[in-house]
Amino acid sequence: MSDRAALLAALAWQLDLGADEAITDHPQDRFAESQPKAPATGTAGAAPRATTRATGAAVAARRGGDGDLFPGPAASAEPGGETAPAAPLAAAAKSLPELAEALASWQGSDLRKGARNCVFADGQPGAPVMIIGEAPGADEDRQGKPFVGRAGQLLDRMLAAIGLDRAAEDPAHAVYITNILPWRPPGNRTPSDREVTAFLPFVLRHIELVGPRILFTIGNTPTKALMNTTIGIRRMRGQWQTHQPSGLPLLPSFHPAYLLRQPAEKRHAWRDLLSLRAALDDSSGGT
Ligand code: URA
Repeated sequence: MSDRAALLAALAWQLDLGADEAITDHPQDRFAESQPKAPATGTAGAAPRATTRATGAAVAARRGGDGDLFPGPAASAEPGGETAPAAPLAAAAKSLPELAEALASWQGSDLRKGARNCVFADGQPGAPVMIIGEAPGADEDRQGKPFVGRAGQLLDRMLAAIGLDRAAEDPAHAVYITNILPWRPPGNRTPSDREVTAFLPFVLRHIELVGPRILFTIGNTPTKALMNTTIGIRRMRGQWQTHQPSGLPLLPSFHPAYLLRQPAEKRHAWRDLLSLRAALDDSSGGT
């Protein structure tokens, strides 16, 4: 194998592992690192602060917001560089567009610095079922919409099998889809507990504003986050729960990305979908 072919093969292997971006969780200013060190003075804190602001502005300019259902503004630093607490900010949002804007401009997570788009939601806000996944992947980050990659295509086929469709406006067929995290974690890694906790107030407000009859969590991350449990999805799936504080019925099931890797588990997911369909029929009161 030539050197070039070997390098390309190594690159493809890294991409398969999910290492598709040359970034880390925290921004590193390589230009600043290569500069000679300034002698220590009483104003040592000034340069890094300026660097951090410049990096944030560059990233905000790169983020387009294209394709967002509820596009938010570009990132803006809080006056004085402080980060507003998530819970009052989320509570102050009186509509879904206001919540999308609050989420997109919130500076409380570094994930925003490695992502292109704040991925808010897709589907119909008046839908009886709200589907909650984990976090955007590369395709979702590019398009600004949740579940548009391979896992999303499988999710669409699963929903179609029980008569649901994210493009439907009619409440009998409509669904609403979002994630726990609106920003793509680098390399599609699993979100940390800290990240999930940080975004939870926005998710809870999102549920209040959408007002669904049923929550359908797909995968470990949304199930653990919303049920405040450490029990894994293999034990939780298919077991109806009551979500607090909303009091809504919540059904956990497998994530479609897991089903793509473990097709034999689709039979369990099918049972969960039938259970969801039955609950929707029961709760519709014949409408
Ligand atoms: N996986 C998720 O959990 N959410 C998405 O939007 C895409 C993939």
